[in-house]
Amino acid sequence: MTEKDFLPGVYQKSPDNGKVTWKAPSNIALVKYWGKKPVQIPANPSISFTLDTCATTTSVLFEKKDNNETLSFDLLFEGKPKDHFKPKIQAFLERVETYLPFLKEYHFTIETSNSFPHSSGIASSASGMAALSLCLMDIEKELNPSLDEDLFNSKASYLARLGSGSACRSVKGSLVQWGRHSNIPKSSDLYGIEYPFEVDPVFKSYCDTILLVHKGQKQVSSTVGHQLMHGHPYAEDRFEQAFSNLDKLKPILANGDLEEFIKMVESEALTLHAMMMTSMPYFMLMKPDTLKIINKIWQYREATKTPVCFTLDAGANVHLLYPSSNKEKVQIFIKDELVGHCENGQYIHDQVGSGAIKIND
Ligand code: PMV
Repeated sequence: MTEKDFLPGVYQKSPDNGKVTWKAPSNIALVKYWGKKPVQIPANPSISFTLDTCATTTSVLFEKKDNNETLSFDLLFEGKPKDHFKPKIQAFLERVETYLPFLKEYHFTIETSNSFPHSSGIASSASGMAALSLCLMDIEKELNPSLDEDLFNSKASYLARLGSGSACRSVKGSLVQWGRHSNIPKSSDLYGIEYPFEVDPVFKSYCDTILLVHKGQKQVSSTVGHQLMHGHPYAEDRFEQAFSNLDKLKPILANGDLEEFIKMVESEALTLHAMMMTSMPYFMLMKPDTLKIINKIWQYREATKTPVCFTLDAGANVHLLYPSSNKEKVQIFIKDELVGHCENGQYIHDQVGSGAIKIND
């Protein structure tokens, strides 16, 4: 599909009002996206586990309005007006308006809430932009009931990408690939696709416990971090490495090769942070407790031979990944050894999920 496929034809219907609700999960990348071209075109392909528990639920109420010249919406976050988030949503709606020409015909009330604690340091932009994009696509489907499912999902992912790059991986599950790769059929820079190759069942129920090391504002946003890959001394090699890691991951995922999976995932996480530390200006998002947790994971893995590993996103929190068959003992390890390194002892048990769902009110 190309960008042109996302321009709708003439709408068949014109409802006066309505309401749609979608719940979209967060995701955690195994091969990381870091570096982009305008607008949110990734410098390298990435792949992620779609999560389950960490999710955003968004309702959009729409009502026909008289003036079709401007965009008009109210925003409620966890039941309360949130004007602070409005500029980001305004910019997003302006960006996607060409693809959703009905936007100026309605006034929208957007109500959104997260399943995870507010300011937990978990980025809500992926789940939030995916949930909002799915709601907008659902409204488009009311205007054009013959819209087919593939186009619906690809366009939802396409719109989510325009809101926040990695959000395009939060529409489907359980493994989503984004970014053109010559060895991955149907892969695209424009939207995420369900990983098209064989995946061992062990990865379908993989666990991810998110250890909340630092809940404050990040020193450097991912927008700035991506920009710092322009002119970065290691950028080209890093982009090539990501392409090649996707090739290497194919037999690992097919065979359930946990030893190689662990090496790949931890190396990707540390490479992402190495890119940050070697940017100019350089910066570091890991905290002392991030490193303490990593060392404890290595010691525990060595001592018990349990296939547990970590990954990191653009922050200090640690995602602890392990097969569901090891759940009981790993969760004891977390309680005994790792909770002390989390801010206020907070962590969230999550697992691989199957993608966003429509909620019928
Ligand atoms: O989607 P953004 O612009 O917030 O970038 C996210 C980048 C990482 O989380 C660090 C990696 C990834 O692929 O999700």
